[in-house]
Amino acid sequence: MAKLRSTLITLSSLAVISLLIMIPVEAHAQETVTPSINRLTGQLTPADKPAFGEEDAERAEEIFKSRCTRCHGSIGNGRGSLASHLSPRPTDLTSAYWYKSTSVKKLKRVILGGGGAIGKSVLMPANPDLRNKPKVVAALVQYIINLAPRKTE
Ligand code: HEC
Repeated sequence: MAKLRSTLITLSSLAVISLLIMIPVEAHAQETVTPSINRLTGQLTPADKPAFGEEDAERAEEIFKSRCTRCHGSIGNGRGSLASHLSPRPTDLTSAYWYKSTSVKKLKRVILGGGGAIGKSVLMPANPDLRNKPKVVAALVQYIINLAPRKTE
């Protein structure tokens, strides 16, 4: 009987220990987000690896706010402060019509190489400094995708 009790105690402490081990793994898993667009319109293929973390997402948001909003607007609708001086106008990144025409690959290309890299206006500037920051670029792609309308929500 005493043996059974001690076996039970050992088993339950093992369960507690394994829970303790699993918790940090869970917390870590939440920090890493692989850009996946399937839950949106289904028009885009899942973004290439690498998955990015919270810090990359924060950096991407900062980049969008500091580099992109003056043209694309703070909500991405293409009505930033410089927009009216540009022809063609900056793309409305909240438009379902535009969203259907794009892809993760194209987004990465336009971010890194500017409009010229995808046969669009060269007024859309390149961001060559992000070339060695693939996780930040992936996070920025996700940020832009999140500006777009979602069919499934
Ligand atoms: C100086 C103004 C300007 C800035 C700054 C700017 N863009 Fe643009 N962007 C444009 C213009 C103009 C177009 C439209 C090009 C066209 O239609 O030919 C465009 C197009 C785009 C597109 C659409 C490409 C497509 O598939 O048609 C995306 C995505 C985009 N910009 C993202 C960004 C991001 C992200 C940033 C910040 C890192 C940014 N832009 C900064 C002017 C700007």
